[in-house]
Amino acid sequence: MQKIIWTPDMSVGVEIIDYQHKQFIDIIADLHAALYEHKLPAQISVTLKKLEEYASLHFETEEGYFNKFNYEFKDEHRQEHEKFKKDLISFHERYEKEGIGIAEELVDFSIDWLVEHIEGEDQKYVKCFHDHGLF
Ligand SMILES: [Fe+2]
Ligand SMILES: [Fe+2]
Repeated sequence: MQKIIWTPDMSVGVEIIDYQHKQFIDIIADLHAALYEHKLPAQISVTLKKLEEYASLHFETEEGYFNKFNYEFKDEHRQEHEKFKKDLISFHERYEKEGIGIAEELVDFSIDWLVEHIEGEDQKYVKCFHDHGLF
């Protein structure tokens, strides 16, 4: 199973977003630890739910700024968020049915998606946010 930590090269130069990305990463790390330490399924479900909720909160924050600043790539970006939320729900359902066997796939998927999304799609709005005075 991969591990994840926030590093300065992931910064988007916007304080609130960097803060939320760090929280997001911390929850994935918690999930990794819960799975790795073979915590009770109920605890793992709680952490998974936390991840789903935090993802939604973070996406709402970004999308709120997209609307406010009329960001040109907001639709494509929102689609990536929606896809991730759906994929997480599917993983959660699979976890309820199949159990710990899907743990590695789930953690690796979340890490790969988040790192790629931060370094790809999220970086694209930085100039727009900065142009609107958000740092
Ligand atoms: Fe995003
Ligand atoms: Fe983000």
